[in-house]
Amino acid sequence: MQLKKKFSLKQHNSFHIEAFADFFYEVTHPGLLDDFFLHNKSQLPVLILGGGNNMLFTKDFIGIVLKISFKGIEIISENNQNIYVKAAAGEDWDDFVSFCVQNNWGGLENLSLIPGQVGSSPIQNIGAYGAEVKNTLSEVTTYNTLTGKTEIISNAACMFGYRSSIFKTSLKNSHIITAVTFRLNKNPIINNTYDAVNKALQAQNILQPTIADIRRTICQIRESKLPDPNKTGNAGSFFKNPEISCSRYKQLKIKYTDLVGYELGNGNYKLAAGWLIEKSGWKGYREGDAGVHDKQALVLVNYGHATGSQILSLAEKIRKSVLEKFNIPLEFEVNIL
Ligand code: EPU
Repeated sequence: MQLKKKFSLKQHNSFHIEAFADFFYEVTHPGLLDDFFLHNKSQLPVLILGGGNNMLFTKDFIGIVLKISFKGIEIISENNQNIYVKAAAGEDWDDFVSFCVQNNWGGLENLSLIPGQVGSSPIQNIGAYGAEVKNTLSEVTTYNTLTGKTEIISNAACMFGYRSSIFKTSLKNSHIITAVTFRLNKNPIINNTYDAVNKALQAQNILQPTIADIRRTICQIRESKLPDPNKTGNAGSFFKNPEISCSRYKQLKIKYTDLVGYELGNGNYKLAAGWLIEKSGWKGYREGDAGVHDKQALVLVNYGHATGSQILSLAEKIRKSVLEKFNIPLEFEVNIL
């Protein structure tokens, strides 16, 4: 086994931050994980890396970075209504979504163009345009790093929430996702509940959209609002949209009539953090090479040579100013390393 030493992670994180790993190894098959967990005599810390789309490196990694590159897509079973498709963790997420849409298997089209790998999708229960991965996920195949055994985690056992799952909490250090199985619909049900998608379809005069129409429209919306990580380093939304009580929402709405928020089933409201950040004056702000995207204030960008600490310092300033103005604490969506 050939470990790469003092390896630059710049091409392996979507912020394109220069950080080094002591050791780096690209794992192409789950069977190779035993070498690092069951027979690992070095005791060095291990970091599991997917596409690196949701992390900010603020320092070098002292240990071994394992890049998950398992490939393969297989049909597990099907009936008249559903098809169960299993994708390996290292498959590119959007290539997989595109493959499903081309086959007219419905369920993932609203999650088009989200950067990342299939194996990362359940960790933060990726979501966009009225859909979340939990809606179509059947089960997750994992490698237990303590026993070396394969374990299947059902959808219910994943404990999915808004941008959260059991893979961020109790299974965080003990289970590596090796594949994800999705239950897709052979007779797709169109989800155009999200206002922006609905309006864009109407503008094109599409009254009965197919999942290919949904995918194309969502790709256009994302391309117009979100920076392409291949061109400008970023990790999508840097903050989560905060949840507040109904009474707090009503108070704020009196003061700020254009406040953007929507009611959750539990009586609370979810606010658009992008709106809070914009109203605090940060949209388009730039400090050296660290900045706030000018079309979507929820996204922080690296214009070239920003360090992770500079991005983090900007994020802390934004958090402080939103807290001072609205008395609402923002949580990071991105993992800080
Ligand atoms: N808004 C502003 N200013 C901004 C940004 C947003 O006022 O700078 C307001 C607008 O009124 C807009 C509303 O906020 O209508 C909602 O904006 P958007 O549709 O862009 O959605 P979001 O709530 O800001 C969430 C996800 C995104 C996902 C979009 C679309 C989170 C943290 N983010 O953003 O996910 O693409 O919805 O569904 O939930 C990601 O996680 O990386 C990500 C991009």
